[in-house]
Amino acid sequence: MALSDMTLAELLKEQQRLVDAALDRLTPPEEVRPHTIHKAMRYSLFAGGKRIRPVLCLQAAAAVSGRDPEAVPGAVVPRAVVPGAMDAGCALEMIHTYSLIHDDLPALDNDDYRRGKLTSHKVFGEAMAILAGDSLFTRAIQVLTRIEGLDAAARLALVDELSFASGTVDGMIGGQVTDIESERKPPTAELLHEIHAAKTGALLRASVRMGAICGGATPEQMDCISRYGEHIGMAFQIVDDILDVEESSAALGKTAGKDEAQGKITFPAVYGLERSREMAAEQCRLAHAALEIFGDAALRLHEIAEMIVYRKS
Ligand code: IPE
Ligand code: IPE
Ligand code: MG
Ligand code: MG
Ligand code: MG
Repeated sequence: MALSDMTLAELLKEQQRLVDAALDRLTPPEEVRPHTIHKAMRYSLFAGGKRIRPVLCLQAAAAVSGRDPEAVPGAVVPRAVVPGAMDAGCALEMIHTYSLIHDDLPALDNDDYRRGKLTSHKVFGEAMAILAGDSLFTRAIQVLTRIEGLDAAARLALVDELSFASGTVDGMIGGQVTDIESERKPPTAELLHEIHAAKTGALLRASVRMGAICGGATPEQMDCISRYGEHIGMAFQIVDDILDVEESSAALGKTAGKDEAQGKITFPAVYGLERSREMAAEQCRLAHAALEIFGDAALRLHEIAEMIVYRKS
């Protein structure tokens, strides 16, 4: 079947398969010493994530470059069309997986389940879980510096983008710090937006920006894709907060109902469920609007925005 004929669900399945194959290629095998750390890295990487960030990276690359992988006859591997986008997507997934391993540690959210399996520290112990997170971080940077088919300036831009989004100033770690320090404090709207934009939004914004770098985006395209990334990033965490209230642990593959138990500052805590749903839909509308300049080339990005807001896990 041609990629353009696929539904979004079919396309995601296909791209998830390609991402898994690329992650396998980019991660040291378990047979390499020290075995335990490579086992732990692979355990979490291949536990069954949705791969939203790599898919966003691939689709943003396609949208800005006009080299739509779906329009090229016989091209089923997007990285053959937009050099670097698949490896950049894998680097994003490595950072994301590291952030989840550390997020689940007893010192942070103290979770026993992730992606439907026991968390890393439950299987390998805390020391190895901390190191598995660290090693996915360092591996991600190495993947970017070694990307083939991109010049040194583009590789540097990718490293800069990913390290900024993972960092302490408006990035993932900064958001995690505020999230932890705000537990059981009065849930204010200001704190809520600061936490969510940083802990989740930054990496989702970086996902589309890194794809755009690989696709050779113009400054105007970069501006528009960044706004799209900010809106889907906010929508993503609003929905994550809603699902924590509404869904079962079995559906989510992680413990439901934990946010309230831990006194987290979430959208439902500040605005209630009904208003939170409306706010996620509003972010989705803004995301669609930001894609206007791309026309039909951004069809899949439009579909992904809808999927983020109306997903059930
Ligand atoms: C969960 O992210 C953590 C957040 C940033 C909200 P995902 O919902 O993308 O988790 P996986 O990768 O599919 O497991
Ligand atoms: C985590 O947010 C965001 C990260 C940076 C990992 P949550 O703590 O809400 O993520 P879940 O619900 O455990 O996946
Ligand atoms: Mg957390
Ligand atoms: Mg958590
Ligand atoms: Mg959550």
